[in-house]
This record gives sequence, structure tokens and C-alpha cells, in this order.
Amino acid sequence: MTKPQTTYHFTPGFLWGTSTSSHQVEGDNNNNNWADWESQPGRIYHGEKAGRACEWWAGRWKEDFDRAQETGQNAHRLSLEWSRIQPTPDTWDEEAIERYRQMMRGLVERHLMPLVTLHHFTDPLWFVEQGGWESEKAPELFARYVRKIVPALSEYVTLWVTINEPNVFTQGGWLGGMFPPGKSDTKLAGMVFRNLLLAHAAAYKIIHEVQPHSRVGVAHQYRVFWPASGSPLDKFMANFVNTNFNLTFPSAIATGKYNYLFRTHAIPEAKGTQDFMGLNYYSADKVRFRLTKHKEFFHERYYPEDVELSETGFLANQPQAFFQAIKWANSFGLPILITENGTEDSTDRTRPSYLAEHIHQVWRAINFNWPVKGYFQWSLVDNFEWERGWSQRFGLWGLDLETQKRIRRPSVDFYEAVARNNMLSSEMVERYAPESFDRMFPV
Ligand code: BGC
Repeated sequence: MTKPQTTYHFTPGFLWGTSTSSHQVEGDNNNNNWADWESQPGRIYHGEKAGRACEWWAGRWKEDFDRAQETGQNAHRLSLEWSRIQPTPDTWDEEAIERYRQMMRGLVERHLMPLVTLHHFTDPLWFVEQGGWESEKAPELFARYVRKIVPALSEYVTLWVTINEPNVFTQGGWLGGMFPPGKSDTKLAGMVFRNLLLAHAAAYKIIHEVQPHSRVGVAHQYRVFWPASGSPLDKFMANFVNTNFNLTFPSAIATGKYNYLFRTHAIPEAKGTQDFMGLNYYSADKVRFRLTKHKEFFHERYYPEDVELSETGFLANQPQAFFQAIKWANSFGLPILITENGTEDSTDRTRPSYLAEHIHQVWRAINFNWPVKGYFQWSLVDNFEWERGWSQRFGLWGLDLETQKRIRRPSVDFYEAVARNNMLSSEMVERYAPESFDRMFPV
């Protein structure tokens, strides 16, 4: 039987990009809480540090932006390092601001639409010393930084993400303890969450004042949670985790109300403060009730047995859950940007099929007329993976940390074919991700 031949077209002007964040790629970031965290024994896998990272701050952003441009991409998501822009409470580093201006100009000159994140997990040391996100002062301190930096970059940037993954940030720092400050305290987590919401709302308003035509959103991490069985307890737990992890922030900024740990809170300032839905999707879990797991709120999560795991077992390839996530994002009635999606794979054994099958789901969503406007692959080049150090390799390009050499993985060619042609074809899948062919084009 001849193999099916088909082409999945994307809408004209679709954004094909990659995502990065300042601390993960810049190198030489010493004035933030992550540098401090990395210096503490036992915090990071094998005691690794971001260190020189990908040396973007030393100028290697140019060669990596060239790579993105030369391989057909037309957008890039990156973040700003607050601690560079405002190294102390009372100083602005104009040279650092100028360097960011050059980077933004560098993107625009390469026809890469910049999508700029104002906060991606790292905080200036002085901010943390003043109480950080636990303090009531946090939203105003963040607003000052936003008031300074947005006008400086507005010549080049119109697309903004205020905060990356407020749920992962709060969970990592104040519930799970794997991010600084390493606490486990539901009350503090609730305060941090509220301050993030207020900071986001303030930033949204400031950006629109400076730049009325800007489009502002949040990069929401959405993880799909399936009950492990039909038992009411498993269903309850899956719903509980879904509400607290996935829904809280997005519903607060949509409606001005949110539920946190069984209580409803009002936050009228945040209502209606996003112009697009930014969606970070990686994987999905089964959720099972467990009486003994009181520290984990009486549940455990695991990957279904029959799914393909990433190199270190961190992620599972579950594209159907991605579709579910996009469906949820669509319920907000806003344009959607896939602000992150990708997998860790140093040998590029599983990345091509992860890519093919996830991009396929984006196309399916568009085919339902859901307004998905862009897709940003995490990441352009291997970078520092937080508490997991350098143990996971998410880049389309690999990185040799010693020599700073970039290693072009086969997925680069695949992503280039998709981006350049603004489509995904059966021919491409056969060539780059043959093991996905039958799953994607069943006869
Ligand atoms: C974060 C990125 C991170 C990626 C892969 C996301 O949650 O926004 O900073 O590198 O996951 O671990």
C-alpha cells in the first residue's frame, strides 16, 4: 500500500521561534538569587553552576541569533535580567540597558520578532534582601523596573511576557523547595502568588501606558493531570492539582478571582490583564490519591507506562495532552502563543518525534480555528536547567561547555523545514521523524 501523502499548512504570518531565558544563557550573572543558590552545597545537580552558560552576555547572542535566522525562524523569546538592569535599589545600569537594546535591534535586523519576558525565575539579590516576593513591597519594586525598561526597549519590542510560569516559580521556591528560597510553606506561597498577580497587573498597565499597541501576556505552564483510575479519590486529587497548579493564575487575571487551597480570593486589579494566552506545555501526569503522602498533599504523580520518556526520564511524549492544553487555552477567547514546548535529548534520538507530534497538535488546533499565532521551541541552544544543572539538553543546538562550540542536531534541519515552509508535511515526517509516521498518518 502506498504511504499517505499530505501537508499540514499553518496560517500566514505564523511565528516560528525558540525560547531562552537570561540566566540560562547569558553567563556571568552573579548578582541574582540563583547565583547565590548555585553556590550552596546540595542545591544543584552535581553542584553545577550556570557559570559562563552560552556566553550571550559576552556577545555570543549574535552567533545564536544568526543560527535562528539562517534556519528559517522568524521570532525569538528571551528574557531580561532584572539584576543587571537594576544592580542596586537606587541604580540603573545604562550600559546593560544599552546592551539589551542592541540585542533587541539584533533580533529585529534578523527579522526575528522579539517576545520579551520581564521575569523568568531570577531576582536581584537586593530585592530578595528586602523580602523578595514575600514582601508587600514586591509589586511596586517590580513596577519600577518595568517603568524603566519598557520605554527603553519599546522601539523594538511590542510583544511582552510579564512573568514566566508563576505557578512553577511559586511551587519551586515556596512549596517544593527546589528553587530559592527553598521553602515549604503554603501560607507564604499564597502571599507570593498574590504579589506576583499584583506585579503582573501593574506591569500590564504600565506597558500599555508606554505602548498602547503592545500585546502583553504571561507564559503559563499547563500540565495535564489525568486521574489514575475512576475512583472518586483519584478524580478529586487530579482536579485539586489541576485547580491549584494550572488554573489559579490564569483565572485570576481573567476574572479577578481565584481559588487557592479551598478559598476564593478577589483581586479586581488583575481582571482582564492579558492580551494573549502564553502556553508552556511539556508533559502530562497520572494522579493517584495516597494517604501516606501528606507532604505532597496526599497524591503522587507518574507517567503512564506505555509512553516514551525523555533521556533522563524528566518528560514523557504525550502530544494528545498538548491538544488538551491548547483547548483549555482557547477557552479564554484570546490569541494563543505556544511560549515553550520541547524535550531534553542530547543525542536527538527522541526530539524529532516529540517535535513532529507536538507541532501536529498545533496544526490540529488551528484547524479548529483556534487562534494559535506562534510556536516557540524550548530551546535554541542547550542551557542551564536550574536545579538540574547541565544534566538535561533541551537545545536544537547542543553546547560544548568547555569550548562553547555549538553542535547542530538533526532537529535543526527538521525545524528549519517546518518554519521555512510554514507547514508540516508527511514527507518531512518520513525524512526526519519516521517513527512518528504511522502515529501521525494512520491509514
Ligand atoms: C522553564 C524553563 C526551563 C524549561 C525546561 C520551563 O518550566 O520556563 O526555564 O528551562 O521548563 O525545564
